[in-house]
Amino acid sequence: MRRIPFIQVGVGNRGLDILDMLLAQHAQRFEPVGFVDVVPQFLDGLHARPALQAIPTFATLDRALAKVPQAQAVFVVTPARFHAPLIEEAIEGGKHVWVEKPLCYDYAEAVALADLARKHKRVVVVGNQYQFFPLERTLQRLIRSGDYGRPFHVSYIHHRHRPAMRAFTGEYPALWEQGVHSLDSILALLDTPALASVYALGLKPHHSAYRSDTITNVLTQFADGTQAHLLVTFDSHRTDWLIRVECTHAALALEPQHGTSVQVIAGGDVVEEIGADEEADPALADPLAAFHTEITTGHTTPTSIDLNLRTIQWIDAAVRSLRSGMVVRL
Ligand SMILES: NC(=O)c1ccc[n+]([C@@H]2O[C@H](COP(=O)([O-])OP(=O)(O)OC[C@H]3O[C@@H](n4cnc5c(N)ncnc54)[C@H](O)[C@@H]3O)[C@@H](O)[C@H]2O)c1
Repeated sequence: MRRIPFIQVGVGNRGLDILDMLLAQHAQRFEPVGFVDVVPQFLDGLHARPALQAIPTFATLDRALAKVPQAQAVFVVTPARFHAPLIEEAIEGGKHVWVEKPLCYDYAEAVALADLARKHKRVVVVGNQYQFFPLERTLQRLIRSGDYGRPFHVSYIHHRHRPAMRAFTGEYPALWEQGVHSLDSILALLDTPALASVYALGLKPHHSAYRSDTITNVLTQFADGTQAHLLVTFDSHRTDWLIRVECTHAALALEPQHGTSVQVIAGGDVVEEIGADEEADPALADPLAAFHTEITTGHTTPTSIDLNLRTIQWIDAAVRSLRSGMVVRL
């Protein structure tokens, strides 16, 4: 397997999780050649590891691009408000880019980034990992098989117990931090249909420490007539998570937090339980493997920037609906 030399920007917090995955299960795919962070202690922490001592560190991406020209890829794991300028800089420097979710906070900006990637023939893959989970993969396969009829409604309920704001200080945390995964998963289940209309309703409970809504409902009609309901919360008392797809012959239901199978429900009963597919494709095991696959094969992978644009367009529409109180038509 070809090892791709990379620079990682943002190596603290989530950045450290990503780096650990790159150095462990993805060591055959990627090789670090430079690290960038604005906080020197995070970079010092890496140099305390014997295996990383010789790898140069930088305060800015432009210094890293100049000093380690052998890098072919840049991993961006900074807060999302810095994603767009860093992606732009990396693409213009001739690098492929893997970026944590969300791609950015603005749909027009996302479209401009996709155009730039196309112009420079660079790969950009976004780190929405939920749609890669084996049970979600199984659910996608079951829907695509057509064995249960045509899907006509998806409900995706994700209650999260996450009372602290952590690094997020912007508006609509539940939507941008968690909903971004759920909407991405719904699109993967339905094969990325075009959006027709979106209505969103939000609430900030009195006890919430956040600055804006932490409970968000998003009601959506797609161009093909299918509908979806997302409920995502950050101020719940327990984390619970349910995905249910109503098809013409059966409903398919999944509780990723607790369950180990997809339930097939028909005539009021559970008639079948289907476990995760055993032969998941290692080339598409997660967004990191997918990034390598897309660079080396040229094939579009599930969270490629062009597909991920629909996720950002959906959140953008939901935010416009939350602000205006109106249905947004696309
Ligand atoms: N996929 C997931 O499950 C998941 C989970 C958590 C966070 N995230 C995403 O990961 C990203 C980072 O989140 P976080 O909570 O680790 O953020 P954070 O604020 O902790 O920052 C991450 C790192 O980036 C560094 N950094 C900040 N600004 C920088 C800049 N301009 N240039 C270089 N380095 C910079 C910080 O010093 C830190 O080391 C976000 O996009 C977030 O949405 C994804």
